[in-house]
Amino acid sequence: MAHEDFIKGLEGVLAAQSSICFIDGAAGRLTYRGIDIQDLAENSTFEETAYFLLFGQLPKQDELDAFTRQLQAEREVPPEIYTLLRTLPPTATPMEVLRTATSALSAYDPDGHDHSDAANVRKSVRLIAQMTTLTTAYDRIRRGLEPVKPDPSLSMAESFLYGLTGEKPHPSSARVFDVCLILHADHELNASTFAARVIASTLSDVHSAVTGAIGALAGSLHGGANQRVLEMLLEIGELDKVEAYVDNLFANKKKIMGFGHRVYRTMDPRATVLRKFARQLGEDVGNTKWYEMAERIEQLAFARKKLYPNVDFFSAPVFYTLNIPVDLFTPIFACSRISGWVAHILEQLRDNRLIRPLALYTGAEKAEYIPMSDR
Ligand SMILES: CC(C)(COP(=O)(O)OP(=O)(O)OC[C@H]1O[C@@H](n2cnc3c(N)ncnc32)[C@H](O)[C@@H]1OP(=O)(O)O)[C@@H](O)C(=O)NCCC(=O)NCCS
Repeated sequence: MAHEDFIKGLEGVLAAQSSICFIDGAAGRLTYRGIDIQDLAENSTFEETAYFLLFGQLPKQDELDAFTRQLQAEREVPPEIYTLLRTLPPTATPMEVLRTATSALSAYDPDGHDHSDAANVRKSVRLIAQMTTLTTAYDRIRRGLEPVKPDPSLSMAESFLYGLTGEKPHPSSARVFDVCLILHADHELNASTFAARVIASTLSDVHSAVTGAIGALAGSLHGGANQRVLEMLLEIGELDKVEAYVDNLFANKKKIMGFGHRVYRTMDPRATVLRKFARQLGEDVGNTKWYEMAERIEQLAFARKKLYPNVDFFSAPVFYTLNIPVDLFTPIFACSRISGWVAHILEQLRDNRLIRPLALYTGAEKAEYIPMSDR
């Protein structure tokens, strides 16, 4: 193939057919199966959105009730997984732990090596339910606390916050968190979803595809950015230090975490909702400092380089104000995006063809093998 066919980073390349998610990067519009993200954020719940992504239609009340009960029933993980969480060194990051434990879960899954569509759906629902348990249980274990037993009466959002503290969250915090889960649930062919589809396309298993996706999400150019955003805000410390900090980043050609996007050329619609939450939560707790700093960074990034914030920018002060540990920000992303990953994995498997592109070879045209003694 010709040199000019190569597109670094696959920018603008159509690499899958999908009916799950659509992004209009120029208009700043995001839809899940045609429904605008703002509409879902206002009216839906994470459970309903996950059902919609997975099964392709908004559930009727009885379908939603059954799905919610199924998620609640599947929340617990086997005792061996708790043992694994206790065995990992305290230096392990929550994303490493999530990746490792998700991989281990495949060995204990009741559907085992059954790779039928029905088994894959059951595994998918189970993984959506279990991701929150893994994340919150590990956080408690590393703090020397016992994991709390998942409470089957709670929603996914409540369950996450309850899993950290052992206390039922205030309804308004739970609702903000629920909307955050909706906003992170899918995003077309982002890097982790693409990784999941590539793995699924080899006819490997659902757990392998999700494990690979978690690895891809962890990187700072993808889901790892939300943690970096908060670390940046903490490092800056005060509103009056923002400008010098941002200018220094630009002068050194460094990136500001939580800004820029491969697809959006305008405001990320998820950031619009999250910005509102960041301000509202700051006002609720009487500390708008993080929001004000974030807003100032937003103004400077636009003024200096026409950069817009992405989903990871305002989610960081939101999660921080909800008292969530900073290194759990990216695992939260995974607890939500798991619904999109499995929807894409199932879609890939139902109309599969091995994903296997080409590389533009840049190595030597012809080289001789040199015996070890002559090197
Ligand atoms: C998301 C991201 C990886 C997209 O990357 P991409 O499509 O490959 O775009 P590029 O990295 O090539 O950036 C294009 C230009 O915008 C600039 N840019 C993009 N994001 C930037 C950022 N966050 N801070 C400063 N400059 C940025 C680049 O420096 C580059 O400028 P140049 O053309 O003058 O060299 C990139 O915007 C980024 O690294 N953002 C920070 C990490 C982040 O928030 N990730 C979460 C994504 S949801």
